Parts: sequence; C-alpha cells; structure tokens
Amino acid sequence: MNIESIKELQQNLSSLLGVSGYEEEVRNFILDEIEKKELADKSWIDPLGNVLAIKEGATGQDRILLDAHIDEIGFMISHIDKKGFLRFVPIGGWDNRILLGQSVILKSGDGQIFHGIIGSKPPHLTTVEERKKVVDILNMYIDIGMSSEEEVLKKQINIGTIGTLFSPFAEFPNGMVRGKAFDDRSGCNVLLHTMMLLKEKEHTDTVLFNFAAQEEVGGYGAITGSYSLKPTMAIAIENTTAADVPGIKDSEIPVYIGKGPAITVADKSIISNPNVNRRLIKNAELENIPYQFKKPRYGMTDAGKIQASRRGVPSTVVSVPCRYIHSPTSLLKLKDILETVRLVLAFIRNLANVK
Ligand code: CO
Repeated sequence: MNIESIKELQQNLSSLLGVSGYEEEVRNFILDEIEKKELADKSWIDPLGNVLAIKEGATGQDRILLDAHIDEIGFMISHIDKKGFLRFVPIGGWDNRILLGQSVILKSGDGQIFHGIIGSKPPHLTTVEERKKVVDILNMYIDIGMSSEEEVLKKQINIGTIGTLFSPFAEFPNGMVRGKAFDDRSGCNVLLHTMMLLKEKEHTDTVLFNFAAQEEVGGYGAITGSYSLKPTMAIAIENTTAADVPGIKDSEIPVYIGKGPAITVADKSIISNPNVNRRLIKNAELENIPYQFKKPRYGMTDAGKIQASRRGVPSTVVSVPCRYIHSPTSLLKLKDILETVRLVLAFIRNLANVK
C-alpha cells in the first residue's frame, strides 16, 4: 500500500456511477477486484445488492464487520415534457443551494451516458423577490439537448432513469484529490486495501466485509448484510464532513482534513460502543497512527443499523475527513485514507491486546 495505489483506486471507484438502488457498476467492480486478487475466502452478492465477503481468522474468536457503502446520492427522472426537458427528484440528501447550473450525467436504459445541465427560470426573467429565495428542486429541470419527448424516449431515457452530478477526478496540491462520490467510495477504498494487506498477514479474528447498498436512503444494505454475516463487533468506514473552512467556528468543525481518521463517539444514529473505541485508540497509540475525534452528533451512518441488528453488535464509525461532501465535488487528502487503512489493520491485529 502506498499513496499511489490509494489514489489509483480512489479514481477508479469515484468514476463509477452507483446511485442508491442502482449500484451495479460499483458492485461488479468490487466483486471483480476481490475475486481476481483472491482477497477473501468467500465473497458473494446478496439479494439486496451488497457485496459480502469473509476472511477467516486463525481462531475466529471475534467476527469483526467492516462496512462501507457503495451507493451515492443522485437523481431520478420523474417527468419528461413535450419539449424534451426532464423533471427530477433527489435520491438522498442534496444541498439544493448548489444544484442550479450544474452539469449532470444520466445513464440510459441501455447503459449510455448522457450529459445534462440543471436549469430553472433565467435570472433576467425573475423578480428581485424570487432571486432571494433558494429555487425549489421541483422548479428545476434537466436539459439534455433534446427537443421532444419522443426523442428522449428513443434514447431509453424514461421515468426512473437515474443520474448524478458530473465531476471528473482531479489532483490538487498537498496530496489532495477532488471528485464525486468520495462519500463513500473512500470507505470502499479502505476496505479493499485492508483486504489486500490482510492477505499477507495472519490474523486471529475473522474479518467480515459489507460493501453496502442503499445507505443514503436508509441504511438498508447494512441491515441485511449484518444479518447474513453475524458480526460480534463492527466498524462502519465512512467519509465525513470536514467543515474546516472559513466562516465556521472551531467548536462547530466536526473534523479536519489532514489530521488522520476520525473516530466517532456519537452521531445522530449511534452512541458508539466505548470498548470498540478503546480498542481503536489503544492500537492507534501503540502503532503511532494519527487520529482525531469527530465532534458529536453530526450525520447518520450504517453503524446505527448494524448496532441494533440481530442480538446487538457493539459498533463504531471511523471516517475519512472530506470537504464539500454531498456536493458535486468533494476534496480530501489521500494520506487520510492511508492512515485509515492503518488504523483498521491495527484494530484487527490488536497488538495492544484490548479485550
Ligand atoms: Co456516507
């Protein structure tokens, strides 16, 4: 593992389109990686669309679940008008303030990618009052350059067609990259790198992997994945909002970019299990891995669903800090992904021997 391998995988994962419920591109890519590199003893796709995998440990005393969601927020076409303009509904939580004027990509029924632009009434035609308000998503449309409903339908774009904002991957200074869907392809990156490193090292506990579908619409993949895998403890690996930007008070910044993985003590869906967190912290300190605490109680994660599955599963969340999540372009530091992999591995090995 090095920064180059982290970057390459981040770029590949980010470029895949996997809006909630339509995650097949991501699913296929991940299952293919696992199979061709022989990263697990067993791997399969469950009926909901999760990629599940098991890597047996020497004793299998504990069953550690690592969960990262494969879906991303996006749109679904809800109406096509006579002139070929499309109306849409959000899938997952967008910030409506940033949607207008954005480039989008849509995937047609036969898998073709179409480009579009989100428009609404032009500023020259609006009143002063109208311009003060955030435009409702219901008053926006997508323009894909077609001139009739028939033309749109012929291209296999219909009610139910999905898409998301368009944002090509790019490198920034200081080891940073920007792109789409870092929430939570960063977590997928961490899981795949963890698997590659586990292949070379003996571990006593069994490690379970859920590349989970439909997190952004209710954590459904976490529920079914956790049921199948029967974990005794769990960590959701996420991508969390680093609001370390101008205009935000220090006391309100959840996490910082470049300060390593963020350990959650509580978010809106979970009070993290203190014993699981202690195992993380003690091992991070033993192995000199930087970490930070995410300030409570921002965001919701799959961990909330996992902890309440079956008889209950002690769980927590570890996140890669990322600016501008749930916007077209996220910005993160590759080193933070690398340190997250190190932390997860340290947790699994448990050289600090935390019970
Ligand atoms: Co997420």
